Amino acid sequence: MAKLTQKDFLKGTIKHIDMKKYNVVPMVEAFENMAYSSRDLARASKIYHQMLSDKNCSIILCIAGSLISAGLKKIIVDMIQNNMVDAIVSNGANIVDQDFFEALGYKHYLGTPHNADDNLLRDLHIDRIYDTYINEDELKVCDETVHKICNSLEPRPYSSREFIWEMGKWLEKNKKGKDSVVYNAYKYGVPVFVPAFSDCSAGFGFVAHQTEHPTAHVTIDSAKDFLELTKIKIKAKETGLMMFSGGVPKNFAQDTVVAAEILGADAPMHKYAVQITVADERDGALSGSTLKEASSWGKVSTALEQMVYGECTTLIPLIIGYGYHKGAWKKRKAANYVKFLQDEDKKVAALKAKENKAKK
Ligand SMILES: NC(=O)c1ccc[n+]([C@@H]2O[C@H](COP(=O)([O-])OP(=O)(O)OC[C@H]3O[C@@H](n4cnc5c(N)ncnc54)[C@H](O)[C@@H]3O)[C@@H](O)[C@H]2O)c1
Repeated sequence: MAKLTQKDFLKGTIKHIDMKKYNVVPMVEAFENMAYSSRDLARASKIYHQMLSDKNCSIILCIAGSLISAGLKKIIVDMIQNNMVDAIVSNGANIVDQDFFEALGYKHYLGTPHNADDNLLRDLHIDRIYDTYINEDELKVCDETVHKICNSLEPRPYSSREFIWEMGKWLEKNKKGKDSVVYNAYKYGVPVFVPAFSDCSAGFGFVAHQTEHPTAHVTIDSAKDFLELTKIKIKAKETGLMMFSGGVPKNFAQDTVVAAEILGADAPMHKYAVQITVADERDGALSGSTLKEASSWGKVSTALEQMVYGECTTLIPLIIGYGYHKGAWKKRKAANYVKFLQDEDKKVAALKAKENKAKK
């Protein structure tokens, strides 16, 4: 038998679902009169529609797991382009290894979890996420591009939001990734936060950059991320959380209420909250902790929250698709929190300049 090569495995590609094509409204509304997960899903969809209809509510989308590689990229891009989200908090894998990776021109491939020979995949430089394959050589280009972006920037601490904005700018300059989350977030002024930014392909780029430039280099300031998201919470007042999966993004966004309180600001609990997850609450861990439980910590109001237990690739197109086809987003105004945060940075820069002048 001829020796297998990468080409034998990297054939069919993952295609991103287009929620605009499927009007799910009648089906989701029919779910209301059913039981179990279908009724939970219908309620979650209605809560999202309420968030979109509430002109005082800013919507924060939280994503963990591997959702972009799974075919959900276009839904998130459509949310950005149609004013259905005001800020994004994600893990690094979705934003860098998956979205930025595809923005560079690469694809995710249809694989199989059932009879995968992972040792052979290893030899062929193919990485596997359950039933999805990735060309590892291409992923290295992603690490290397982050390295190049680091080298091109003034050495100083950046929030991940600032750095991801630079990635969007890089894509624009290099005419790449028009259908990506990073590019569209840059273009539409939606801030993207990745609180654990080094825990993904970006980390390899940063390690290379900091080794090459040991005394003056780009660093990521995660505390600045938290301050920036807290500033958004304080400015927005009313907020709704759409949480897909769980992980660090869920807690990071929820905690802004507590941070605002510490700063003495008048910021209410998150008014709306929806989480889709396969995690359950028995282990006491964050991902499966219920939103009801979060209210005991003063983070989420209990009136308009809904947990939906199930896997994101099937549930997100229904819940976000419902919000899209109901159309309340047409009346929403863009928050442009990127501009707000850049103005905040300018105030700090002016303060610094004043302090430096006083020292001289
Ligand atoms: N996921 C990857 O392939 C990958 C790749 C590189 C780096 N990383 C890094 O690993 C770290 C941890 O990742 P994480 O924060 O995403 O945690 P995680 O992968 O543990 O996911 C968090 C929780 O979300 C739930 N979940 C995940 N996918 C789901 C889905 N499709 N549907 C419903 N629920 C789902 C899981 O039950 C889990 O409890 C991050 O810093 C990330 O950047 C992940």
